[in-house]
This record gives sequence, structure tokens and C-alpha cells, in this order.
Amino acid sequence: MEFIQVKDKTFKISVSSEEIQNAVGVVANQINDELKGENPIFLGVLNGCFMFMSDLMKQINIPCEVSFIKFSSYSGTETTGKVKQLIGLNENIEGRSVVIVEDIVDTGITMKNLIETLQEKKPKQIKVATFLQKPNALKCDVTLDYVAMKIPNEFIVGYGLDYDGFGRNLNEIYTIIKE
Ligand code: IMP
Ligand code: MG
Repeated sequence: MEFIQVKDKTFKISVSSEEIQNAVGVVANQINDELKGENPIFLGVLNGCFMFMSDLMKQINIPCEVSFIKFSSYSGTETTGKVKQLIGLNENIEGRSVVIVEDIVDTGITMKNLIETLQEKKPKQIKVATFLQKPNALKCDVTLDYVAMKIPNEFIVGYGLDYDGFGRNLNEIYTIIKE
């Protein structure tokens, strides 16, 4: 399907599932090489990360733990700038190598806040793996260690990303059509 409707908006396919899987494989190989012997804990940021986290972890072959946190700051198609609290971190990450797994880094506000919150818990190191990055939108000084794909600064849905809660289940990435 080339065009899809999500609620009141029309989207056009922009990244196929094959391209997605190839990009995820590249990031998995990098992590397998660079974090060998670190026994990292992967922290997926819900809800958006669930598809990327699942595909990524199937290709991670080093000893590791997998967990999820929630930390949302988005509503509709605009970043609110408001950051909500982190919930669900039950593991002790002191002295650990942590890999944050995100669907997308847009302005970077969410990621910057998350890194600062996790730093207080004294991990050995924090790495960031994001499926997508919108490079032209970055407003914060954050280091993204692993980026599967860079995309233009346009609103997208699919592969975990939503428009007002819908579209997360799509197996490809779709870009909004401007009216
Ligand atoms: P940031 O704080 O501006 O970097 O926003 C990051 C969060 O905004 C991501 O975790 C997504 O949940 C959401 N987001 C950013 N861009 C998009 C998009 O194009 N579609 C859907 N969600 C997005
Ligand atoms: Mg997210």
C-alpha cells in the first residue's frame, strides 16, 4: 500500500520493511562489537521503541539484560516541550553499561532529560541507540551513539511511531502528505 489514512491525515510510504531490517542489522552489529564484555542493560523507551527493540534484540548476541521505561513528552504532531516523569526503572544501573533504545530523536529534549535522569543513578556509561534521527530538528547537545536511519524533518508514522496513538502497528515508515 503506497498511501494510507491514519485518522484525519494521509501518509505515503517512505521506508520499506526491508530497508528497516537492513538498517537495524547494521546497528546490531556495531553494538555486538563495541559492547562485548560489558553485559549491558538495554532500556527501551515505551511506547515507540517496541518494534525497533524487538528486531534489534533478536540480532544482539552478547550477554545482556532487557528492560523498558516510559517517559513521554509528545502529543499530536508537535513536540510539547513538556517533559513527564520517568516510570518503570526497577533495575539498579549503578556501574552498568546502559543502552537507551528509542524510536526517534527529534528535538532531543526527551533524550537529554532521560540521560540526565539516568546519570543520577551512576551508571558506568550510557549509550543511545535510536532507530530514527531527524538531524535538522536537533535542539539539544546529545550524543547519539547508534542511529539506524536519518530522515528529513517531516512527521512520520509506523514501525512503533504513532499519530495520536494510531499507526504504531505499521510494518513500514509512512510520511505525512501536506494538505
Ligand atoms: P523530542 O523530545 O523532540 O526528541 O521527541 C522525541 C519523541 O517525539 C519521540 O520519542 C517520539 O515519540 C516523538 N516523535 C518525534 N517525531 C515524531 C514523528 O515524526 N512521528 C511520531 N512521533 C514522533
Ligand atoms: Mg518515543
